Amino acid sequence: MSDSQQIYVNGTYKPKEEAYISVYDHGLFYGDGVYEAIRAYDGIVFKLDEHLVRLYESAKSLRIDIGMTLEEMKGVVLETLRRNKLREAYIRIVITRGAGPMGVDPRNCDKPTIIVIAEERKPTFGSGDKGIEAIISSVRRIPRDSIDPQIKTLNYINQILAKIEAIDAGVEEAIMLNGEGFVAEASTENVFIVKRGKVITPHPSAGILNGITRQTIIGACEELGIEVVERNLTTHELYNADEVFVTGTGAELIHLGKISGRVIADGGKGETTKIIEEKFREYTRNPKHGVPI
Ligand SMILES: Cc1ncc(COP(=O)(O)O)c(C=O)c1O
Repeated sequence: MSDSQQIYVNGTYKPKEEAYISVYDHGLFYGDGVYEAIRAYDGIVFKLDEHLVRLYESAKSLRIDIGMTLEEMKGVVLETLRRNKLREAYIRIVITRGAGPMGVDPRNCDKPTIIVIAEERKPTFGSGDKGIEAIISSVRRIPRDSIDPQIKTLNYINQILAKIEAIDAGVEEAIMLNGEGFVAEASTENVFIVKRGKVITPHPSAGILNGITRQTIIGACEELGIEVVERNLTTHELYNADEVFVTGTGAELIHLGKISGRVIADGGKGETTKIIEEKFREYTRNPKHGVPI
């Protein structure tokens, strides 16, 4: 085996330099595909089953037949980690409709393209001690009656446009509202506020991805005896929250110190956020919450 990173592509493990797919892939032509992002901590793949269920459900909605069972996919993920000797990792599974002649007709593709990448990757915004700044984006989250946000598709143009606004404003992240003007989610994270000891977060019906980190945080709050309310949230409530944080596999958990020029409380990490974060970090290293490599 070569020393270079090994990537799973359509049934074989290839060195990174040789891991290619067709330029006729419909994932590239049309964003026709689904993906998952997963992390492994200390030799345990965090919430692997939950991520794979979401992947298979996303594929089913798009009528992409992955062509292997969920258990087989689990084996591929674990083997990719082992081949790369990784115990702490960021894992990306990409499934596309496959390669085929141009034209959106899915029948143009015989079989899906399957890619599994595992590598080291730091949290998107750092370790979490220093918070980030966000803006409220003018880009609205695609409504769920157009594309259900539970389908984790390869189409992230909505989020990328919001992120460009954040970059132009000189801040790290953008929070998108839904069509009714309520808070939806950040580009690739779910949003939470703390107000008078209660945790409040948009309900999935607000048109958000019901993130696996989000669900884990809600579970952590329950264990900690912190009340969680899932309901519509306004920008006014964000600006005047005691604490605001966002969660996702890439970013893990990070607090927001400022939103669209409004400092959140004193701008630092709040006490409730600290307690929830500690519990979350405990879960990530608990074999009960994952699958050993
Ligand atoms: C749009 C969107 N919302 C929320 C999340 C957070 O989801 P999870 O916690 O499952 O990573 C992601 C993650 O990629 C995302 O893309």
